[in-house]
Amino acid sequence: MTSGKKLKGVVLAGGTGSRLHPLTSVTNKHLLPVYDRPMVYYPLQTLARAGVKEAMLVTGGQNAGDFLPLIGDGSRFGFERLQYAYQHEAGGIAQALGLAEPFVGDDDVLVILGDNIIEGNLGAAAADFAGQDQGAKLVLTRVDTPESYGVVELDGDRIVGIEEKPTEPKSNLIATGFYFYDAAVFRYVKELKPSGRGELEITDVNNHYVREGRMTYTVLDGFWADGGESIDSYLEAINLVAARGANDRAPLP
Ligand code: G1P
Repeated sequence: MTSGKKLKGVVLAGGTGSRLHPLTSVTNKHLLPVYDRPMVYYPLQTLARAGVKEAMLVTGGQNAGDFLPLIGDGSRFGFERLQYAYQHEAGGIAQALGLAEPFVGDDDVLVILGDNIIEGNLGAAAADFAGQDQGAKLVLTRVDTPESYGVVELDGDRIVGIEEKPTEPKSNLIATGFYFYDAAVFRYVKELKPSGRGELEITDVNNHYVREGRMTYTVLDGFWADGGESIDSYLEAINLVAARGANDRAPLP
């Protein structure tokens, strides 16, 4: 167990949602329905089920104000504290994460991309991460289209690198949008340079930990869905949730 550090949670729910246009032309992707609830409910449920009590939602754009009446103080999800941060520009996942630094402070953080949906929970992964004391932990899964994601290269059971959307993926094992970090993550975020797509990439943050030998991982049980990758992945997320339920069949908060 770490020296009194808490595990706080951050849900990243910004971006332009351009891959789902025109569904996202006048609203935020994370407000779209996924079966019986708005997409943003799933990452909040995932945090709550991992035992997180203090969370932050980072969002941006014209619909940022719509999250407040929808989610409120977060108590319905089981949070003792829920804060909000506003991202002025869609500058990438890592930039959005940087906004959470004052909230996380010296604690650990579980970062969740707001369009990532899972069948099960991250309770065991959170317990493992608490036991490793420092560094970071990725949650991996196998997919049919790794070229759309951060592809993980293993040497034996050690991660040796992650490539963001490679044209020739080295494996079908990818990094999902669930990331456990110690507070050093904010130092790494500040050192990042924009990628080819003009964003501060979370994969660059993760490779920092990999190079330092401070990255562990777990492989998910149950389905993983990315509701925002494409219109087909959005439909697949809805169908999986309808057929199998998400977050251990979490009831509507
Ligand atoms: C992001 C990450 C990628 C990860 C994916 C999971 O991709 O950059 O490494 O595999 O989320 O959802 P993006 O949604 O920015 O295309």
